[in-house]
Amino acid sequence: MKKNGYFILLMVGWCLFIFPSFGISAEGDIKLTQPSLSSNVSIEKAFSERRSLRTYKNEPLTLNELSQLLWAGQGINDQAKGLRTAPSGMASYLLNLYAVALDVSGVPQGFYRYEPKKHELILISKGNRRDDIANARFSGPPPGASAEVASRMASHANPLVSAPLIFIITGDSSRGEAASYYLEAGHAAQNILLQCVSLGMGGVPMAGIDFDKLKKSLKLGDKEVGIYLIPVGKK
Ligand SMILES: Cc1cc2nc3c(=O)[nH]c(=O)nc-3n(C[C@H](O)[C@H](O)[C@H](O)COP(=O)(O)O)c2cc1C
Repeated sequence: MKKNGYFILLMVGWCLFIFPSFGISAEGDIKLTQPSLSSNVSIEKAFSERRSLRTYKNEPLTLNELSQLLWAGQGINDQAKGLRTAPSGMASYLLNLYAVALDVSGVPQGFYRYEPKKHELILISKGNRRDDIANARFSGPPPGASAEVASRMASHANPLVSAPLIFIITGDSSRGEAASYYLEAGHAAQNILLQCVSLGMGGVPMAGIDFDKLKKSLKLGDKEVGIYLIPVGKK
């Protein structure tokens, strides 16, 4: 009896060592929680409150919040047909949605790809990737910007230095036209931003990014086109 007790304890210890926390596979992939299909915030209220947010409360996000935002962006909402929360020309789904987890409770820091069919995050690389990402932001105004735009931009904080979570949306140029994946990205990004409002969060869609630099540091494929970075966090 005593021997059995020791054996069970040993097995539990071994499992805890191999699978350090619930929902994380041996490869480091994250099993996400099921999305909630209701909230106290109406879609109209979300429209009325959405605003780009560039500074965030210093507070970790939860796995539920991360799961909900990924589902809003590219999740499956019709299992039988494999259709998603955001529309796609001819349902060709040309986007990849990535999450850079920097401060999400229970989720090790790292760069992950969202897998809609399994509702999972696939680990691409471990560790804190904040510097690689924050350094890819263009600091000055775009060529030809008016003085008014330039001065507004100068007043913006860099949201990439404090966001607990940053989404990256890329388009797959090997499977479709640029017009299709750029339009699709707008739909997915707006879903994420409206979902943020309903979770008491905020974010900002960013295209002023040196995606060539970012692609190199994150080792993204040649055929992937960087479209948006979306840092998000609590209000
Ligand atoms: C295509 C696009 C690109 C954008 N790129 C950036 C960006 O690189 N950096 C940034 O701080 N905001 C960026 N924004 C956010 C806009 O600055 C913001 O939407 C605008 O100032 C209006 O403010 P609001 O979103 O609060 O209504 C972008 C928005 C869009 C639609």
